[in-house]
Amino acid sequence: MQSIHGKVLAAVAAVTIVGGVGAAGAQTKVGVLLPYSGVFAALGQEIDDGFVFALEEAGRLDEFTLIREDTEVRPPEGLAKARKLVLQDEVDLIMGIVSSGVLAALRDFVTDSEVPLLVANAGEDSSTGENCSPYVIRVSFSNSQVNRPMGQWLYDQGYRRVYTLAPDYAAGQQMIATFRAGFEAAGGEIAGSEFTPFGRTQDYGPYITNARAAEPDAVFVFYAGSEAIAFVRQYDSFGMKEDIPLFGSGFLTSPLYVDAQGEAAIGVVASLHYVPTIDTPENNAFVEAFRARFDRTPSEYAVQGYDAGQVLMRALDAGADDRASLAREMPRVSYTGPRGPLEIDPLTNNIIQNIYVYDTVSDGAGGLTQEVLDVIERVQDEPMGCTLGQ
Ligand code: PHB
Repeated sequence: MQSIHGKVLAAVAAVTIVGGVGAAGAQTKVGVLLPYSGVFAALGQEIDDGFVFALEEAGRLDEFTLIREDTEVRPPEGLAKARKLVLQDEVDLIMGIVSSGVLAALRDFVTDSEVPLLVANAGEDSSTGENCSPYVIRVSFSNSQVNRPMGQWLYDQGYRRVYTLAPDYAAGQQMIATFRAGFEAAGGEIAGSEFTPFGRTQDYGPYITNARAAEPDAVFVFYAGSEAIAFVRQYDSFGMKEDIPLFGSGFLTSPLYVDAQGEAAIGVVASLHYVPTIDTPENNAFVEAFRARFDRTPSEYAVQGYDAGQVLMRALDAGADDRASLAREMPRVSYTGPRGPLEIDPLTNNIIQNIYVYDTVSDGAGGLTQEVLDVIERVQDEPMGCTLGQ
């Protein structure tokens, strides 16, 4: 596909060279918008690696021009970089976005500019709900999708009073709200709840002390990246884990950083749309190939980048050749990949996928691995006010 910029040049060339199609090169220009610094830096790099790996594995990397920009986790920074990618670089689409806050800040801009945004992480619910857009297509998860099964699940395990903690921003609030709704609907009681300053503290001592004082049966949290490493370690070092089991949104003990948590992560149970131990031919082949390329086990973030690459290539193969046709074709892609069957819901543009409840366990060789305890198949969000299907 020619970039939008390429099309202009090609149109000019066509005036003088009859049939001179492709004069300006047939590249797809991708604005890769990720945090390469700050608390989610490791996540950004992992998504980038997964995305590039998909293009490389298909032997198609040279069909793409990637223009990378760093969002940190700051919405204004993300919006400024998105404007630069669209207005100056004239990208055909933007891929990436880790923070829910950054996604919310970009929604109107990409919609008004009619530039497809292929979301490879940020779970912000309203972006595929009441603020959905034909230009926002999500191949990662929504915050409510990942956490919805856990309220009932904890209740079924016998827990009745749960305390919650999460960073104080859109993702933390939405993930906890969904867990809470499910747990209360099942008959459970929230023993207390706190939100910690996002990106501004990694000292959870005072919050853990408050959680203990509430005497819950269990604690449920969302933390990711360097905050997750600090939280899980501190929860264990305060001697909490033995007394009050820790549960969470699965990013808490992501394979991306679980080794940095070490034994503190053992026994933490969480829900997520991907773990590397899913035993299917597609995932086994993916894990083996990723390990051969990067010498490490892929995490959910790598798979999100990889699936973004798959969705993009398949949309191009279906004939997409400009922004509008990309926005139309990307949601039509469906296939079975590392995480299982994947499809995009035409009612919301959010992904429909399995959710796995997993435990972090010792691998018997000094490392850690993930044991799948339960699979909730084909979890699909309600439209939550989205009118794409009408
Ligand atoms: C988000 O801000 O939506 C977010 C960030 C990191 C995660 C999951 C969700 O691991």
